[in-house]
Amino acid sequence: MTKRNRIFAALVVLLMGVGGVHAAEKNIAGSMRQGEGDPKAGKEKAAMCAGCHGEDGMSIDPTSFPNLAGQYAGYIYKQVRDFQLENRSDPTMSSMASMVTETQDLKDIAAFFSSLKTMKGTPGDAKLASEGKVLYYKGNKKLGDYAACVRCHGEKGKGKDKNNALFPIIGGQQKAYLIKQLKDFKAGTRANDPASMMAMVAQGMSDKEIKAVAEYLSGL
Ligand code: HEC
Ligand code: HEC
Repeated sequence: MTKRNRIFAALVVLLMGVGGVHAAEKNIAGSMRQGEGDPKAGKEKAAMCAGCHGEDGMSIDPTSFPNLAGQYAGYIYKQVRDFQLENRSDPTMSSMASMVTETQDLKDIAAFFSSLKTMKGTPGDAKLASEGKVLYYKGNKKLGDYAACVRCHGEKGKGKDKNNALFPIIGGQQKAYLIKQLKDFKAGTRANDPASMMAMVAQGMSDKEIKAVAEYLSGL
């Protein structure tokens, strides 16, 4: 994190304390279909998100925040709602989610991030990434091809289809974030996945496999 960004993050946390945003507000309803949000209106409303997730939807601090650029709007919508409902929890993001109180605002914000140029990563360790690639397309010993990520996350982690926001885009996502999510699914500290699909996959993965697949995906 640069000094400026650190100051920003500290300010956000401070303001939330002073402003009296306490327990999560659970105002956001239902789910979002493709085309329901207005990306133009969302751009302005997303200003409070850009401080961490970037104006272009690319994380300002790869070790702390995920990319949202090009992610399916319906998926972004579901996650923010899950943070509000406490189906998913994070000290920073849970408070941020509670600040979005209008359903239409969240639809617009989600449509804005979704309209941006899709996230792109930076290749790292080629050997580790190639191990991760095998896992991505073929699965592993323990789970066989059940764990083949491609079945649900599509070629190169690019997701399935705009109209199928159930399975997020994970290619080009930040490495540290990918590792954290997989470990959280494995430990059960993140359990908002429909039908425990990710829990079953993550529980059958070793920490080394998690690192390898994150290396592969964050380089796409
Ligand atoms: C102060 C920093 C900060 C701000 C501002 C912020 N977020 Fe986040 N956001 C985070 C962190 C940290 C995570 C990762 C949480 C985790 O590890 O589970 C996150 C995760 C998310 C995710 C989940 C991404 C995924 O791929 O599942 C979404 C969606 C999201 N934020 C949307 C928003 C929106 C919309 C706003 C503005 C209303 C916002 N965030 C503002 C820090 C922030
Ligand atoms: C049977 C389908 C299925 C398979 C196979 C699968 N996933 Fe997932 N994955 C999902 C679903 C569904 C979600 C969204 C959960 C939610 O709604 O919060 C998800 C979410 C994720 C996330 C969180 C993304 C984010 O932005 O927060 C990561 C990371 C992930 N999967 C990685 C993987 C990897 C790596 C593999 C292969 C080892 C894999 N998945 C295999 C269904 C699957």
